[in-house]
Amino acid sequence: MLQHADSIWAPSTDGMALAVSRLRAGELVGFPTETVYGLGADAANERAIVKLFALKGRPANHPVIVHLAPNADLERWARRIPPAARTVIEKFAPGPLTLILPKSDAVSEVVTGGQKNVGLRFPSHPVAQRLLRDFGGGVAAPSANRFGNVSPTTAQHVADEFGAELPMILDGGPCPIGIESTIVDFTRGAAVLLRPGAISAQQLTEALGYAPLAGTRASPRVSGSLASHYAPKTESRLAKPFDLAAAIRTAAMSGRKVGVLARIAVRPADFDGIWRQAGPESALYARALYAELRLLDAAGVDLILIEEPPPALDWQAINDRLHRATHSGRTPSRAARGSR
Ligand code: TXA
Ligand code: MG
Repeated sequence: MLQHADSIWAPSTDGMALAVSRLRAGELVGFPTETVYGLGADAANERAIVKLFALKGRPANHPVIVHLAPNADLERWARRIPPAARTVIEKFAPGPLTLILPKSDAVSEVVTGGQKNVGLRFPSHPVAQRLLRDFGGGVAAPSANRFGNVSPTTAQHVADEFGAELPMILDGGPCPIGIESTIVDFTRGAAVLLRPGAISAQQLTEALGYAPLAGTRASPRVSGSLASHYAPKTESRLAKPFDLAAAIRTAAMSGRKVGVLARIAVRPADFDGIWRQAGPESALYARALYAELRLLDAAGVDLILIEEPPPALDWQAINDRLHRATHSGRTPSRAARGSR
């Protein structure tokens, strides 16, 4: 793991002032949010956005979210704000939520990947809010990882991703939520849930008075919806709790070194790989998830086995990320193998 700690800045007066001046100069700044770290650029500066896409390695037709201070004027960014969007903003903003709205003329299509809609988000993290207030404009930011990689939840993760290519990262400590924001599309009549997150479908249902529709392939392009997103480089598989021990034995028999991300499973006495325990509770699990995946990915194992969480509502966003991280690979479950 490379150390580029000299790019990491405390959010002191000096650190914040430097971050703002870099954004104004069209440079990129890594910064914390309550979900994951973002790779920020001035949303009004097309050249800065082009730089952002280049560093991230993201295709130009994938839109980035514009981050706004709590007191920002939404009308400046969105042409139309349906009542349902206002309800949801009132209830959940600032917070881990992104709204897709029809973009105003002020928003460049470089930001939206050529689309007429823009993703807008009001982060609740104090360092992000201060940066946005001091900067005074919108900050376009994808998660601060190279395209397709696991999102970063610490400043060091961001430094590990970009090294000297990103000279400034504001350090806000580990992200308290740990997985990316819930994305809701308000451009197509009924609200559509494009990406599950900490703000749950159930909470949205209560606020809206109806259940948001599930995103489909006809939805606007969401790069996080590619099957192989959020993925460690090491082959990774899900295993049902009752299949985990057998999956470990099978891998060991073929001489493969195994890393395990367990939830409630107990480490077998003879297990000699890397064992990590992420815990039984969904919010704490989400907070730890990407750091654990990065740790296992860097541990030099041949296979990462992840104990599959229950298909419960509060695990929906986590299960979504785990299925993408494993390319939906899973060890054959007992049910799939039949009753023998
Ligand atoms: O929690 C988060 O949302 C983090 C932090 C940094 O705010 N950001 C984040 O950005 O996850 P990114 O770019 O890694 O993922 C945002 C997703 C992408 O899949 C993108 O395609 C989608 O939001 N998105 C952005 N603007 C959109 C738009 N106008 N229409 C449809 N999808 C959009
Ligand atoms: Mg991302």
